[in-house]
Amino acid sequence: PPHLSREELKALVRTVPDFPHPGIQFRDITTLIGHHQGMAASVHHLAELADAAGAHKIAGMEARGFIFGAAVAVKLGIGFVPVRKPGKLPIATIGIDYALEYGTDRLEMDPGAIEPGQKVVMVDDLIATGGTALASAELLRRAGAVIEQALFVIDLPDLGGAARLRDAGMDVHALMEFD
Ligand code: PRP
Ligand code: ADE
Repeated sequence: PPHLSREELKALVRTVPDFPHPGIQFRDITTLIGHHQGMAASVHHLAELADAAGAHKIAGMEARGFIFGAAVAVKLGIGFVPVRKPGKLPIATIGIDYALEYGTDRLEMDPGAIEPGQKVVMVDDLIATGGTALASAELLRRAGAVIEQALFVIDLPDLGGAARLRDAGMDVHALMEFD
């Protein structure tokens, strides 16, 4: 069982002002994942939620979603699906363009990574506008996934992403919030 409370986990996240652009308060998980108990407790809490949702696979968004998503998948004994930044996979991919809090990007995946109808739980370190998670959900669904739940370490509720996902019918959980 994890030894750290949600408050203690939140205290392990480092806030860096004006990165990568002026006005952005960057919530940096480097300090959380570098703390063994902090990482273990975060993965424990996320894995409990994904297990309760009946996940057949975990999908993680590049890059920081890989850190937590892969650990959750191993903990639950299920497979991990990487949702990748463009040009990384060596096969023909399916892809989707999306908007970010700062800029735009594209996500790609292996169209054969999921068996039709498999329940896939999405895991990322942080939800801001929800653009990444909504694009990932659409992409994963095109690959045959059933997407009902998205899990995050950090929610920035002022940016409205979690509300957008809930409006789209998804079950959304985060381990902590920052204003
Ligand atoms: C960050 C974060 C989420 C996304 C959240 O990733 O890890 O994936 O932004 O923002 P949104 O809810 O507004 O879409 P980033 O694109 O910075 O990539 P990285 O993990 O490679 O640093
Ligand atoms: N991704 C999008 N917005 C972010 C923020 N404020 N801190 C860390 N990662 C982010």
